[in-house]
Amino acid sequence: MIQVRRATSQDLPACGTIIDSQPLWAQYGYHGNDAVRHLTVSLAGGEAVWIAADEEDVVGFAWILPHGAFGRSPYLRLIAVKRGAEGRGIGARLLGSAERDAAGRTFFLLVSSFNEGARRFYERQGYREVGMLPSYVVAGIDEIMMCKRL
Ligand SMILES: CC(C)(COP(=O)(O)OP(=O)(O)OC[C@H]1O[C@@H](n2cnc3c(N)ncnc32)[C@H](O)[C@@H]1OP(=O)(O)O)[C@@H](O)C(=O)NCCC(=O)NCCS
Repeated sequence: MIQVRRATSQDLPACGTIIDSQPLWAQYGYHGNDAVRHLTVSLAGGEAVWIAADEEDVVGFAWILPHGAFGRSPYLRLIAVKRGAEGRGIGARLLGSAERDAAGRTFFLLVSSFNEGARRFYERQGYREVGMLPSYVVAGIDEIMMCKRL
């Protein structure tokens, strides 16, 4: 049974492990210890971090910056499901929790153009592509901007 709840500081090392389990972030030079450091600051500042956990372990998380898009709209900074646990609805549940917090607002995110699985995932969740930022985070990787009016 997977439960989705707000993260505590004790959950954060497991979030770092999830980042390291997914090859995506190594392409950005982003590692689990970076995520733990950022999430620690984020929690202390009252930002929302949602986690999905089964009886044994944290299996996914989502980190939201409430005004991270243009200083006015919520921005999905990170969402990750542990390698091997994808495709079981965990990401959809995490995103749903984040969205309920942001009701009435427009929710933004960026996704790597090559990440076809994630782009399909967001489209199914009702997000539409509204722009492209060439080589924005890392040279040679384009970011697709997506948003959804909640
Ligand atoms: C993208 C992600 C958060 C979705 O969560 P999930 O629990 O796997 O997704 P759900 O089970 O709710 O929905 C399934 C859909 O997710 C997508 N998906 C499944 N596995 C995926 C994977 N390994 N990588 C990217 N997307 C994946 C597919 O669109 C899938 O639908 P399909 O099987 O019909 O094509 C998760 O797969 C993940 O962490 N992937 C690797 C990291 C990543 O791409 N993060 C997003 C960065 S913007």
